[in-house]
Amino acid sequence: MLGSPCRLWLLAVTFSLVPRAQPLAPQDFEEEEENETPRPPLPVVPCDYDRCRHLQVPCQELQQAGPTACLCPGLSSPAQPPDPPRLGEVHMVAEEGRAVVHWCAPSSPVNQYWLLLWEGSGAPRKGPALNSTVRRAELKGLKPGSAYVLCVVAANDVGESSVTQAGRERREGVGDPNFGPCSRLAVPPRPLTLVHAAMGVGTALALLSCSALVWHFCLRQHCGCPRRGATRATAGL
Ligand SMILES: *[C@@H]1O[C@H](CO)[C@@H](O)[C@H](O)[C@H]1NC(C)=O
Repeated sequence: MLGSPCRLWLLAVTFSLVPRAQPLAPQDFEEEEENETPRPPLPVVPCDYDRCRHLQVPCQELQQAGPTACLCPGLSSPAQPPDPPRLGEVHMVAEEGRAVVHWCAPSSPVNQYWLLLWEGSGAPRKGPALNSTVRRAELKGLKPGSAYVLCVVAANDVGESSVTQAGRERREGVGDPNFGPCSRLAVPPRPLTLVHAAMGVGTALALLSCSALVWHFCLRQHCGCPRRGATRATAGL
C-alpha cells in the first residue's frame, strides 16, 4: 500500500522532468559537439615505417617528429635481447666477389646490426657494426665457387639476437632462406674461371694425344724394331 504512492510520486517527478529535459537535450548535444570538434581524431593511421626499408628512421622518432599522431608496431621488451632479424634477398656479383645483403628489422628495440660470415667449418668473421637504420650491407672478397653461411645479428643494450638457426640449418641440411637470420651463400664460379678450366682441359687433352702419338711412333721406330730383330735372332739361334 505504501509502494503505490511512492511509485506515483516517482512517475510525477519523471513526467515533470521530461518536458524540462526535452528542450535541454538538443542544447546539451550542441555544446558537446562544439567542445569536441576542435579535438583531433583518435590516431588510427600506422606510421610510415617499413621494417625492411634501408635507412629507416626508428618508428618512435617518426611518432615524435610527425605533425599527426601515428601508430607504431609493437616491440618486445627493452629488457630482453632483440629477436633475430630476417635475412632477405642477397644480390650476388660473383665476377667481383661481392654480394649485397638485405634484411628486415625484428619487432624489438635494436641499437646496431652486424653480419657474420663463415665458410664451411671455419671461424665466423664479424662485419663492422651498423647503426639501427641500416638494412643493407655489402660483402666483399667472396671466393668464387665457395659456399658460405651468412647471418645478420641485431643487438641492444641487453644482448644480441641468436643465430642458432644457422647451426640447425647446417646440421639438418635444411632451412628456409625466407625466414630467420641466416642463409647459405653459394658463390658461383667465375665465367672466366670456367673458360680457363675449359682451356686447361683442352690443352691437357691435346698434350695427351700428342704424347700418345709420340709414344706410339717411338715404340714402333726405336723399341719395336730391335725387339722384332731380337726375336728373329733368337729364332735363328
Ligand atoms: C647510419 O649509417 C648510415 C650508413 O652508414 C648513415 O648513412 C646514417 O647517417 C647513419 N645514421 C645515423 C643516425 O647515425
